[in-house]
Amino acid sequence: MRILIVSAIAEPESFGGQMLQEAVQRLNFDGHGVTVSDLYAQRFPAVAYGNDFPDRENTEYFALEREQAHHYKNGTLPAYIRAEQEKINAADVIIFMAAIYWMSPPAIMRGWIDQVFTPEFAYGKGKTFENGPLKGKSAFFAMTHAGLLGAADPSGVPFKLDEMLKALHDRPLRYSGITPLSPLSIRPPYYQNTIERGIAIDEICTQISAHVAKAEAIKNTAPNTDKPKAFPLIHINGRPGVGKKTVGQILAKQINAAFVDNHTLLNPAVTACGRGTEGYTRVVRKVIEAVFEELQHTLQERPVVLTNCLTAQIPEHGLYYKEIEALAKKANADFIPVRLSADFNENARRIVTPARAKNHKLTDADTLKQLYNDFTTIEDPNNFELDATELKARQAASAIKRHIKAKGYDL
Ligand SMILES: Cc1cc2nc3c(=O)[nH]c(=O)nc-3n(C[C@H](O)[C@H](O)[C@H](O)COP(=O)(O)O)c2cc1C
Repeated sequence: MRILIVSAIAEPESFGGQMLQEAVQRLNFDGHGVTVSDLYAQRFPAVAYGNDFPDRENTEYFALEREQAHHYKNGTLPAYIRAEQEKINAADVIIFMAAIYWMSPPAIMRGWIDQVFTPEFAYGKGKTFENGPLKGKSAFFAMTHAGLLGAADPSGVPFKLDEMLKALHDRPLRYSGITPLSPLSIRPPYYQNTIERGIAIDEICTQISAHVAKAEAIKNTAPNTDKPKAFPLIHINGRPGVGKKTVGQILAKQINAAFVDNHTLLNPAVTACGRGTEGYTRVVRKVIEAVFEELQHTLQERPVVLTNCLTAQIPEHGLYYKEIEALAKKANADFIPVRLSADFNENARRIVTPARAKNHKLTDADTLKQLYNDFTTIEDPNNFELDATELKARQAASAIKRHIKAKGYDL
């Protein structure tokens, strides 16, 4: 998932500052792509003045909403606002992170909302709620506070975060089509020692991670009715050396599909940083995000064949698998999973080729044996199970093509 954290936390060393850093790390580790709008660091100008809008539509007096609509349509909103709108467009989930100031988000965050959720970008005539332009995205607040949640003040009014945020959940979130998730909150331990602080940060970040997983589930089950049906995304998952690339290439040629082999996505990171380094994960994420963005468009033109070696035992592999399913959903394409297998001896025979070594691939039968013992490829109830032990690559590709055709595609 692509996550935008809008942070109104001024001090990196504060509890909130550390919560932000830990959340970014954890979400990245979970396999998401995270962008942060750090409003204090950006010195985000949270107040709209008339002279931010030269070349007025209404020359008589300054009417913010009218000028926002006019300048949005003309692409002449201030650059710092357009930049934030682009970040929202690119995000699946928005996390608002801040301390509670007088039962509200801090002014800088309110100012960000006022200025960024402009007409035409976030709402418009006939474009609200179910038809809101930002439909399909989720958002939630993660806030620190000093008071006791649920405790009543002398007039008997209890302090409840969801009630405090009700107005913002309704407008602009629901109004623009965004699904608000229940807010999260934490009261930093008062006289903090490092251990207490660490436990509290861990607690809130675990909740943040779980909320993002919830947002992902909502996104994956939402029907995509806006787009015309795209071409299918065929995903071939199998162990190293089983023949995914050869079969995938032949299939792609047969059905005029784009072919994306998993090593194509990984090799830039291997070359730039080497496997297992911090940079490796960063580069892989960037490549995947960029390529997936493009594949959404490709799927409108022709099928895509994607190969992978994703195992059931590694949680990140499961998350990546979901990301691929989400890519299909977003493009309004059918996701057609294929699991390609072969018995161990045949697989071990296929793995030892000079061409594989040249492409940074596994060529060692002992390691393959270990992989057979420790890992299985991902189960998917929709898998087309293809045992290619006795099949030539061309026969395996034809079997997959028949399977796709049986789903009603004339390819
Ligand atoms: C201007 C201001 C207003 C505040 N209003 C509230 C409030 O209404 N309710 C509350 O529980 N805490 C309130 N607080 C306390 C902050 O929420 C608290 O200090 C902060 O969440 C602690 O996080 P930190 O350690 O990361 O700074 C307020 C603090 C400030 C500075």
